[in-house]
Amino acid sequence: MPSLVVVGAQWGDEGKGRIIDLLSKRADIVVRFQGGCNAGHTLIVDDHRLALHLIPAGIVHTHTLCIIGNGVVVDPQALLEEMERLRGLQIDISPKRLLISDRAHVTFTYHRLLDAAREATGSKLRLGTTQRGIGPTYVDKVERVGIRMTDLLDGERLRKKLELNFEQKAHLLSRLPKDERPNIDELCERYLEYGKMLAPFICDTTLILNEALRSGKNVLFEGAQGAGLDVDFGTFPFVTSSNTIAGAVCIGAGVPPKFINAVIGVTKAYTTRVGSGPFPTELNDETGEKLREIGMEYGATTGRPRRCGWLDLVQLRFAARINGFDALVLTKLDVLDQFEEVKVCIAYEYNGQKISEFPACSEVLSECRPVYETLKGWMQPTRHIRNYRDLPKNAQRFAEFISQELGIPIGLISVGPKCDDVIVLDERWVNYRF
Ligand code: IMP
Repeated sequence: MPSLVVVGAQWGDEGKGRIIDLLSKRADIVVRFQGGCNAGHTLIVDDHRLALHLIPAGIVHTHTLCIIGNGVVVDPQALLEEMERLRGLQIDISPKRLLISDRAHVTFTYHRLLDAAREATGSKLRLGTTQRGIGPTYVDKVERVGIRMTDLLDGERLRKKLELNFEQKAHLLSRLPKDERPNIDELCERYLEYGKMLAPFICDTTLILNEALRSGKNVLFEGAQGAGLDVDFGTFPFVTSSNTIAGAVCIGAGVPPKFINAVIGVTKAYTTRVGSGPFPTELNDETGEKLREIGMEYGATTGRPRRCGWLDLVQLRFAARINGFDALVLTKLDVLDQFEEVKVCIAYEYNGQKISEFPACSEVLSECRPVYETLKGWMQPTRHIRNYRDLPKNAQRFAEFISQELGIPIGLISVGPKCDDVIVLDERWVNYRF
């Protein structure tokens, strides 16, 4: 039962999509277990740039079954659009290829409106969300008034639940402009229609998944966002509304902990972040601009320019501890090819003291200054390289420095955006032998 969890080690956008694309070549099942269409996994398929938001990246391989687990919040409109886009690329989207948990919560149009209202300019509550209604959908789940995929299959049940939901949030809805306030009749009609279209895909996914794990199938769990955005362990409150770390697999997919065999953390060779929140190694200068331009650091979901900075080992060490990484995937190494020197943050300075632990408090983190180790750059292209020993010596030193500081081996290094622009340091990860 080789099951592998792949999660983001930073603030999302680490390049998980293309790594999952690579690792799912040998996977029987690929599962999303948290988040929603706030995620944007970019793949390059036959020179075609493809951004996936809800459907697991394994969908591009014809042999994989993709599962959207109960921990995901599903916007049916966004999902149906994504399904259509994939069909347009001749990818089979049938229940043989895609299943959706009947327990997954549904994002409605009003969740998006509430997300946008909270984010409205000038609001003190502004977090820089993707405005996809993710937070408000998870709020409904925890408030126990959420509506689940199974509810889209029964008109009477859907109406009753919507009425209850509206009663509970009457004060919030009354703050929306009159012409934007949701209408239960319209919503019932529209979401029942979505339910009809999605009905063949909706089922108890725990049955299939647990059976597959017991019978020794290769299962890949695809994380969205990253450890820095985890609602418990991230830079709260500047986080997303789900648990993004490996432990969330059990809750978000209905899988017992004993079925998880290995965890891989994906990190860029530098750091990026979108939205608000502390970011100690952020570079608001030419170097940051250079990273953004070479790395094409613009959001796959919102198109926003990403904030860029050097690699932060304090943040990564914390991410490694709470996830239990067995290996790291270092992505976008090639983006550093044109830097004379490369910096890596090894500690913070706070109130005149050196600290090496990631603080719980965002206010403290925002006052932390990075303490850097400066390494020599390699000033040579690396995109064509497929063997570790062919990497320039200084690039090897950079990778080894990270691995030694964190005490975690590096399993793969990506040197370009295409699926095979990768250096495999340890074949076990691509072959599911662990
Ligand atoms: P939300 O998930 O839309 O509520 O946004 C909360 C925070 O998470 C914001 O800072 C977003 O920019 C960030 N975020 C959400 N999804 C992603 C992602 O896939 N990549 C990077 N940042 C994300």
